[in-house]
Amino acid sequence: MIVASTADEIRKQVREWRVSGLTVALVPTMGALHEGHLSLVRTASKVADKVVVSIFVNPTQFGPNEDFDRYPRTFDADLQQLSNLQCDAIYAPTASQMYKPGFQTSVELAHLPQHLCGLGRPVHFGGVALVVSKLFIACEPDFAVFGEKDFQQVRVIEQMVSDLDFAVKIVRSPTVREPDGLALSSRNRYLSQEQRAAAPVLYETLVSMAKSIEAGASDPKALIEHGIKLISAKGMEVEYLSIVDPIDLEDVELVTGPVRILVAARLGATRLIDNIAA
Ligand code: PAF
Repeated sequence: MIVASTADEIRKQVREWRVSGLTVALVPTMGALHEGHLSLVRTASKVADKVVVSIFVNPTQFGPNEDFDRYPRTFDADLQQLSNLQCDAIYAPTASQMYKPGFQTSVELAHLPQHLCGLGRPVHFGGVALVVSKLFIACEPDFAVFGEKDFQQVRVIEQMVSDLDFAVKIVRSPTVREPDGLALSSRNRYLSQEQRAAAPVLYETLVSMAKSIEAGASDPKALIEHGIKLISAKGMEVEYLSIVDPIDLEDVELVTGPVRILVAARLGATRLIDNIAA
């Protein structure tokens, strides 16, 4: 397994593979790998011959009062986990290699970030779009795998790839869950025992809303009000619970076709997100 720390190094390796006729899939991560990330790596090895995993805690996607400083950094354990899978190269630049002194370029999308997580995290998706563009330019992958747990992120990347003509195919990978339904997240490790016991209410609520829709419920307002009650009863503070169009992420006024239900809520200082198709 090669560990590259500069864009030139990883690009040279990827180009060698590609001239030999091999395809390459990139799995972008911020490290602190858990089973959810490992499933992205497994998906990557099914779609391409070679797999590159990037590990970079990206400062530009964290707002000033967010958890950049306390975000878990577990590089040695990450390497260990990846050594048990098909991971052919790791791209792990430092912050100053990624953003050289005097860096001044941004990548902004006009509409998709104006919803859901983007409202409470105004710099987040610009930072994601910027770093993912840089990862695509450095790694020149044929495929890039993203988890559906970050559904808005997937839509932002898909739109950006289409708008900027990146020659990369985005592969969506389903959310991996604990047996009680809690979506795996690097932030779950912040939860106290009591908070961990309450957290599955997010997925339970999404499932119950999806079932109501399947049974014919079509008024988003009533569904959302009931959902917020269920989540708040477990001591969680709901940031948003929304039923949206799965492409443009606009709130729907009436459920008449496929929708996505998304939630963000806080348990103490920890912010959790989840979503489901309905
Ligand atoms: O989903 C993540 O871990 C990050 O947002 C990503 C895509 C690696 C960009 O930093």
